[in-house]
Amino acid sequence: MELIKAKDYQDMSKKAAQFIIEKVKANPKAVLGLATGGTPVQTYANIVEEHQKNDTTYQGVTSFNLDEYIGLPVEDPNSYHYYMNKHLFSHIDIPDTQVFLPNGLAADLTEECSAYEDLIKQHGGIDLQLLGLGHNGHIGFNEPGTPFEQRTHVVDLAESTIKANARFFDKLEEVPRQAITAGIRTIMDSKEMLLIVSGEQKREALQHLLHGEVTTDFPASILQQHPHVTVIATEDAL
Ligand code: GLP
Repeated sequence: MELIKAKDYQDMSKKAAQFIIEKVKANPKAVLGLATGGTPVQTYANIVEEHQKNDTTYQGVTSFNLDEYIGLPVEDPNSYHYYMNKHLFSHIDIPDTQVFLPNGLAADLTEECSAYEDLIKQHGGIDLQLLGLGHNGHIGFNEPGTPFEQRTHVVDLAESTIKANARFFDKLEEVPRQAITAGIRTIMDSKEMLLIVSGEQKREALQHLLHGEVTTDFPASILQQHPHVTVIATEDAL
């Protein structure tokens, strides 16, 4: 794992955006794996700003998001579809037909999971997967206890994740209890990963990720076994 230290959230976001932009410039047909949550918001804002300034094109890029809540329509401001449109897709030139997120409203969720997995394969797999880090070590929505071999699946969210994500909703009761997430195997199949971590509240999780035991109790620890991971973390998270 390569560790890049950032001064603060702004610096982390600048470095992460540059990292992604460089990959897209080097491979205009890159398949990106994208993440949501609070951490990547400014990274996406920087990508948008750079696109507007320098015309870096995303016309050939395909993206697959890690996860989506079950039961929230695309127009719900708390759905990850909405988040991605708001923060990234509607501001860059990536064609709508090349952005994919799991459909949390699918009638057959099991079928949706395997179709999503197939779609990633058909596109040749993920070239660069962007990841955030959950307090309990979750990546995507792979909660502690998730087998490392699992692919895209439906999850019951951990109580701690529901509480952590409640800040985006009006009430705790509005946070969906389930989501579809790319599995750990799906994530580990990515050719390269970029994990971004910011804030003192992630310190313990980051320490485990970097130096702790590889265990399903802390899903992100599996990244230690991937050959090409870059972590950009702020000083306070370190
Ligand atoms: C969320 C998302 C993850 C994200 C993580 C951290 O639940 N499903 O993809 O990386 O939790 O979120 P944040 O960046 O807001 O701390």
